[in-house]
Amino acid sequence: MPAKKIAVVIGSLRKDSMNRKFAHEVIALAPPSLTFEIVEIGELAIYNQDLEENGAVAPQAWTQFRQRIKDVDGVLFFTPEYNRSTPAALKNAIDVGSRPYGASVWSGKPAAIVSVSPGATGGFGANHHLRQSMVFLDMPLLQQPEAYIGGAANLLGPDGKINNDGTRQFLKKFIDTYAAWVETTAKK
Ligand SMILES: Cc1cc2nc3c(=O)[nH]c(=O)nc-3n(C[C@H](O)[C@H](O)[C@H](O)COP(=O)(O)O)c2cc1C
Repeated sequence: MPAKKIAVVIGSLRKDSMNRKFAHEVIALAPPSLTFEIVEIGELAIYNQDLEENGAVAPQAWTQFRQRIKDVDGVLFFTPEYNRSTPAALKNAIDVGSRPYGASVWSGKPAAIVSVSPGATGGFGANHHLRQSMVFLDMPLLQQPEAYIGGAANLLGPDGKINNDGTRQFLKKFIDTYAAWVETTAKK
């Protein structure tokens, strides 16, 4: 069976982002049945219908982003928590992919969410606000295991890699479960 292509969308634009480091670690732990590409969101103009309606041509970055999501079998989100919700950059990417009306690129793509925070609650608020959008966008969402990575700064070594077996084992179980579920859930 050919490997399933998974887009990795990271909600932090910071170059030293812990979410990005965890994304790389999870990719490294994944089974060969999945291949990954990180789809960047930092260059997407803030969504405004005027930029693509009434004869306007959508910004190229939007069109390219939409195409890259269309081309994958599933989506893996890594999100920080900003003020108990998803960062604006990530919400904007969700909005851009959801339009024009009736042509959402998210529909039917099996998704999973990892929230990563230095705080004790592991980005629960961001994780669940993202889930709320997924329901409307008709994205099947991995329910278990839930991945709220709290105290994240203490779980990474100076090399940016996970520094303990417990976290590595948990994320291995997470990505293996996602991989098995994608096999049965992905459309193609
Ligand atoms: C605007 C803003 C709001 C934040 N709000 C929260 C929050 O509600 N909960 C939380 O755990 N951390 C919060 N933080 C701290 C982030 O978790 C922290 O900056 C984290 O490193 C972001 O993830 P990153 O390392 O991937 O960029 C906030 C940070 C910013 C910049």
